[in-house]
Amino acid sequence: MSTTAPWWRSAVIYQVYIRSFADGNGDGVGDIAGLRSRLPYLKSLGVDALWINPWYKSPMADGGYDVADFREIDPLFGTVAEAEQLIEEAHGHGLRVIPDIVPNHTSDQHAWFRAALAARPGSPERERYVFRPGRGPDGTQPPNNWVSVFGGPAWTRLPDGDWYLHLFAPEQPDLNWQHPEVREEFESILRFWFSRGVDGFRIDVAHGLIKDPALPDLPPGPHARHPHWDRDEVHDIFRTWRRLAAEFDGDRAFVAEAWTDTPERLAAYVREDGLHTAFNFDFLMASWDSKDLRTVIDDSLTLLSTVDAPATWVLSNHDVMRHASRYGRKKVTRWSPTEPYRPEGVLDPALGTRRARAAALLMLALPGGAYVYQGEELGLPEVEDLPESVLQDPIWERSGHTDRGRDGCRVPLPWSGRSAPYGFSPDNASAAPWLPQPADWSERTAQAQTGDKASMLELYRTALNLRRDHPALGDSTLTWLDSPEGVLVFSRTPGFTCVVNLSGEPYPLPEHTSVLVSSGPVQDGLLAPDHAAWLAR
Ligand code: BGC
Repeated sequence: MSTTAPWWRSAVIYQVYIRSFADGNGDGVGDIAGLRSRLPYLKSLGVDALWINPWYKSPMADGGYDVADFREIDPLFGTVAEAEQLIEEAHGHGLRVIPDIVPNHTSDQHAWFRAALAARPGSPERERYVFRPGRGPDGTQPPNNWVSVFGGPAWTRLPDGDWYLHLFAPEQPDLNWQHPEVREEFESILRFWFSRGVDGFRIDVAHGLIKDPALPDLPPGPHARHPHWDRDEVHDIFRTWRRLAAEFDGDRAFVAEAWTDTPERLAAYVREDGLHTAFNFDFLMASWDSKDLRTVIDDSLTLLSTVDAPATWVLSNHDVMRHASRYGRKKVTRWSPTEPYRPEGVLDPALGTRRARAAALLMLALPGGAYVYQGEELGLPEVEDLPESVLQDPIWERSGHTDRGRDGCRVPLPWSGRSAPYGFSPDNASAAPWLPQPADWSERTAQAQTGDKASMLELYRTALNLRRDHPALGDSTLTWLDSPEGVLVFSRTPGFTCVVNLSGEPYPLPEHTSVLVSSGPVQDGLLAPDHAAWLAR
């Protein structure tokens, strides 16, 4: 890896879903104390940075994505002083820290929204959000036909007759980014955390901040310009943020969560004067198919290179079904962001694990950076059978109990021991983990996998540590080598080849001097189906 390029062009960033990572105080919810105690684990895993899901003061209507105060840490997770200690300790371990910022909406308990509710329709307090009178003779119809991402209408009516917009839950009113105070406030929040040492931010719903001021109905069918997603004007906001980040020393960087229709539209977020990086969700959405994957990889690299931005690959996160389960079906369907992922067919856990191992080697060999979602290094599957009574994701209620939501990928991590809470909480915990862990996770704990050469954890450790030291990996380019259908083979300079066998037949490894790491045993020079290997040439 080049030592002169900024860190974010090559970084492997570990996603800490803090509620489910490690519980330090025994209340059944993960927290900063738990995270601090596990920093040595993350260091030895070999990642470069941590993205921490929202830790701010929140009523938790959407797991912390409903923020009541961006300058306070929620008491469930700790205090600002503990956050500062965490940042310092992480830096001591060579790990950078990137919190999540949620600029599209606040909690309905945020001081601004409470003030808006206390004020009258048409008042300045309401202008920081998106309030409108309703349609119809007595205003009983919502101002337009927009729908919430979580199901149901995107508008809620107040007793005084005014409606307010929420692209997510009603507890998450959308801010009005045409208002200068909103812009100033977020610049001030960024400075607040940058001056406490954070290395960047993951920007939640970066593609949603600007709405068409006319708030037109969403027309049926395809539309050239969407009234609230991915509008060109969002880039003005991010140009200002980029300049702001540059005022601080040490290469602070942003990553955008931006869902766009095409890779061209995604590339616009990471132009030189825009954000540094954006998640490549196309990779996550691809099926387990060599053509599909190769197209996604090529399209992403080609378009990002036109704006000189690195790719950032991701297989799983806190919003989607874990990939060990997505890939554990014979038929892996292409995932579409507008629909919940519906797996087809019976889960074959061994198949899912095999492919997840191969996918990890593929992802970590690609040019650019990568994200590892907590627990994928333990090979955790989606928990598909959580009882309905424990589901907490607002999607479950908002969808009228037709979509179980995202709790299945958010189950607290198993660290050690033979039974729940598997070391997630301390021995004297006062409460059980906030979501129940499966009874058969004792072989999945970090402790059980440590030192077991065949485990997912040791595969990640080996690959991540190789990646840190290998001069061919991280940022730069790849060259595809000839291969039969179903097999992906590419080389990187100097002296590195990655082979992924998605065909049904064993594949003879191309010329090499040694196998650096493989996702399973290589016998007689043959790589078995659904396996991958890194080779030295
Ligand atoms: C986050 C989700 C969250 C939503 C609303 C997303 O994109 O990743 O977890 O529910 O934004 O803030």
